[in-house]
Amino acid sequence: TAEPLQRQFDDTIARDHRVEPRDWMPDGYRRTLIRQIAQHAHSEIIGMQPEGDWITRAPSLRRKAILFAKVQDEAGHGLYLYSAAETLGADRADLTERLIEGRQKYSSIFNYPTPTYADVGVIGWFVDGAAICNQVPLCRSSFGPYARAMVRVCKEESFHQRQGYELLLTMMRGTEGQRAMVQDAVDRWWWPSLMMFGPPDGDSPNSAQSMAWKIKRHTNDELRQRFVDMTVPQAERLGVRLPDPELRWNEERGRHDFGTPDWSELQRVIAGDGPRNAERVSRRRAAHEDGAWVREAASAYAAKQAARAAG
Ligand code: 3HC
Repeated sequence: TAEPLQRQFDDTIARDHRVEPRDWMPDGYRRTLIRQIAQHAHSEIIGMQPEGDWITRAPSLRRKAILFAKVQDEAGHGLYLYSAAETLGADRADLTERLIEGRQKYSSIFNYPTPTYADVGVIGWFVDGAAICNQVPLCRSSFGPYARAMVRVCKEESFHQRQGYELLLTMMRGTEGQRAMVQDAVDRWWWPSLMMFGPPDGDSPNSAQSMAWKIKRHTNDELRQRFVDMTVPQAERLGVRLPDPELRWNEERGRHDFGTPDWSELQRVIAGDGPRNAERVSRRRAAHEDGAWVREAASAYAAKQAARAAG
């Protein structure tokens, strides 16, 4: 019976040891990991689009090369995470179908437009900064392949965050128009970046179980708070204003108090009604369909190789 196996699993989690793909695990543990890892992978792949639009319009070869490297990293993070999902029995083609048909989610943050070049810097600063807050604890997630994928991802994410912040520092030393462009991007990306951490803890149906299974190490609100505390001094150094009149240091808490994100906006964007949802998904569908011949050729070649090897 599953009794001794369940006990062994519970013991592994209690000792902060890793669950590996061949270990017995409760169906619910497998299901919620495939859910989170697949959506994490989808987020990385869709996340290539907003800033990818600026690769051909970057203001210098250096900025183009940095942006190209970053977008390429996101693709790699996606492939890592799809591979981690496959160790749980998920099928990559099926996951892509679910994304394209809107049956699986990806991060709300990638459904916003990137109208100016300052958006590239603010995405690096806010979105990759938020990703670091969210992904560092995931390096200690109880499922081995996920935790190990996060270690590599986090190293690259800190390069992404730093290049974004350096880009903004350069623009803030530029003209009045460039400074206004940075402030405009900060105003547009601040609240959606706070929403990226998920609904408030009271509205987070997955958190309790994910924390019990040590998939999630901190709650959505805790990680959101860390991101705010980390970002406020960076905004001061940069010379930009964060668009939250309630944002202030709270001495007793040793943290910043801040306003409440518009949770109805998050729900709308998650439900597919954000500014750029339709465009992001249709471009992913087109890339998948246009790439079908490459997949067919690769599998035909692999089959031929296998037949030749079998001799
Ligand atoms: N966008 C889209 N969906 C979201 C969301 C968001 N910002 N926040 C929450 N949701 C969804 C959840 O997926 C869940 O729906 P589901 O049950 O159908 O999956 C529902 O809203 C309720 O949220 P919960 O808090 O109960 O869900 P979780 O416990 O899974 O917490 C999470 C949400 C914090 C995003 C968690 O899944 C997580 O940590 N995922 C891994 C990290 C990740 O996916 N980050 C996304 C950004 S991509 C990125 O950081 C890469 C970098 O390059 C930018």
